[in-house]
Amino acid sequence: MPSNTQIIINQFGAAELLAFQESELPQPQAGEVLIKVAFAAVNPIDVKTRAGLGWAAQHNKNNLPWSPGYDVSGSVIKQGSGSQKFNLNDTVSGFIGFPLRAGGYSQYICVPETELALMPEDISLECAAAIPLAGQTAAQALEKAKIQPKEKVLILAGAGGVGHIATQIAVAAKTEVYATCSSDNIDYVNGLGATAIDYNLQGWQGNLNDVDVLIDLVGGDNALNALSCLRPGSRVVTVPTITSSIVCAKASELGFIGMGMLVEPNITQLEELLHLISAGMLKIKIEQIFPYQDVVAAHRKVEKGHARGKILLNMQS
Ligand SMILES: NC(=O)c1ccc[n+]([C@@H]2O[C@H](COP(=O)([O-])OP(=O)(O)OC[C@H]3O[C@@H](n4cnc5c(N)ncnc54)[C@H](OP(=O)(O)O)[C@@H]3O)[C@@H](O)[C@H]2O)c1
Repeated sequence: MPSNTQIIINQFGAAELLAFQESELPQPQAGEVLIKVAFAAVNPIDVKTRAGLGWAAQHNKNNLPWSPGYDVSGSVIKQGSGSQKFNLNDTVSGFIGFPLRAGGYSQYICVPETELALMPEDISLECAAAIPLAGQTAAQALEKAKIQPKEKVLILAGAGGVGHIATQIAVAAKTEVYATCSSDNIDYVNGLGATAIDYNLQGWQGNLNDVDVLIDLVGGDNALNALSCLRPGSRVVTVPTITSSIVCAKASELGFIGMGMLVEPNITQLEELLHLISAGMLKIKIEQIFPYQDVVAAHRKVEKGHARGKILLNMQS
C-alpha cells in the first residue's frame, strides 16, 4: 500500500517552514475521486499565503496545518459513491479547493469530481497542471475588461504565469497588445505577438498613449505609473489583490473605470483552455519543474517574481 506525502505548513513564515507529512491514502467520499497527482503548479498566492499574507492566510490561520496548491494534473485511481464523471485511469486537470481548501501539493488527493476536467489526449500532464489558475485569471481579467478588436491593451508583466496567457488571448482577440517585461524577456514577449516594453527604461510610459485597457499583473506604483498611458474612460483591471483598492481609487479619480478581481474556478472555461492548448492555439511556457522534495527552492523562485511562464512541482516519487 503506497503512502501519501503531502507538503504542509504548520505556521506562516519563510519557505523553510514547508514540511513533509506522511499519511495513509485518503478515501474518496460521495461525489469525489482519488487522484494520483503528477504535477502541481506553484502560484504567487501559495507563496503569499505560506508567508501569512492575504485573504487565504487570514481565513486559514486557525486551520493549520495547511497544504498549499490549487492546480493539479494526474490520474483517477478510485471513485467515491455516485461518482460517474470519470473512468479509472482517466487523466484530469483541476483548479481545486480555491480559495481555502487547496491541498494540491500532495501525491494523492480526494477531489470533488466537479472540480476536474478530462484532459484532451494530446496535451501533457505538465501543461494540464500549469493552466488552471493562471489561465482562468488571464481569461477572466480580459472578459472583465470587455476587450474589443483593434483596442489598445497594455498588460503589465506579459512574461509571467498569467501574463503570457493573457497576452496570447488578447492577441488572438485582435487587439493591439503592449506588454511590459525586463530586457531578458523582450524577444519572448514579442514572439507572443505583443509589442514588448522594457519596464526598466526610465519614462517608458511617456511613449505610449491612448490605451483603452490596462491589465495590471504587478500592482502598486507600477500600476499607478501606467495610468498615464490611458485615454479618458479606459478600463483598468488590477489583479494583485493586495494593492487593488489603491489602484482602483486612483483610476476612478482620474476618470477611468477601475476593477479588482478574484479568479473564480469555472470548469467550462478550464475545458475550453485545455482545448485551445490541444489545438495549438495557446502555448504554455513552463520555466522550471522542481521535484517536490525541492519545494523550498520552488517557492523562493516564485517569490523573486521573475519566472517566465509557470513553475511546477513534480509530485511523483
Ligand atoms: N486576484 C486574483 O484572483 C489573482 C489570480 C492570479 C494571480 N494574481 C496575482 O497576479 C500577479 C501576477 O501573477 P502571476 O502568476 O502572473 O505572477 P508571476 O508568474 O510570478 O509573475 C512573474 C512575472 O512578473 C514580471 N515582473 C516582475 N516585476 C515586473 C514589473 N515591475 N513590471 C513588469 N513585469 C514584472 C516578471 O518579468 P521579468 O522577469 O521580465 O521581470 C515575471 O515574468 C501576482 O501578484 C498574483 O498574486 C491574482
